[in-house]
Amino acid sequence: MFKNTPTSYGLIAITLHWLMAFIVFGLFGLGLYMVELTYYDSWYKGSLDLHKSIGITLAAVLIFRILWRVSSPKPRPLSQNKTVNHIAHTAHIVMYLILAVIVVAGYLISTADSRAIAVFSIFNVPALDYNFDGQADIAGKIHYYGACTLIGLAVLHALGALKHHFIDKDKTLTRMIKPKEY
Ligand code: HEM
Repeated sequence: MFKNTPTSYGLIAITLHWLMAFIVFGLFGLGLYMVELTYYDSWYKGSLDLHKSIGITLAAVLIFRILWRVSSPKPRPLSQNKTVNHIAHTAHIVMYLILAVIVVAGYLISTADSRAIAVFSIFNVPALDYNFDGQADIAGKIHYYGACTLIGLAVLHALGALKHHFIDKDKTLTRMIKPKEY
């Protein structure tokens, strides 16, 4: 029920997957909206604080998800096509990597002025003692282009899942929704 089996995803992997998909698309939308606001908009600071707090939450979920992925191996792919399976597997690894890069870059933008990140006004994530020249600009570019690449990949990945469901009519999408043996 909770752990993956050779043929099914467990409740933990399913919850982590959809929670993370929701957070990633939400943060992307919030990020695009936020950068259009000016200093005088009432939600200027609030939206930035929320983006950072959810970003740190995403980092924690990502670490837990990677640890869970290592301790509870994923089910076998349902497609017999080795090339397709290889592409899907590579896309999953690349998504994990880009997520990690985006989170680290976001941290470096926020702490470029040596200030800690307040997470939901509950606790602070401290800044590093060391900053490099142009940190905010360089990390900002990596964060932005990383996020755009991730969203592009996630959309292709979702289209692949819908193809499995509606065209190949296999259980690839269903088993990422319902935790039972297929
Ligand atoms: C930002 C959004 C998303 C991210 C970052 C993401 C990431 C991932 C990753 C990393 C995996 C591999 C899981 C593992 O390691 O076992 C995965 C699996 C999967 N995802 Fe997503 N995903 C996203 C959105 C979606 C959406 C919108 C759909 C469906 C419409 C979807 C459908 C699936 C399915 C069906 C699998 C299982 C594939 C298999 O069994 O090989 N994902 N996703």
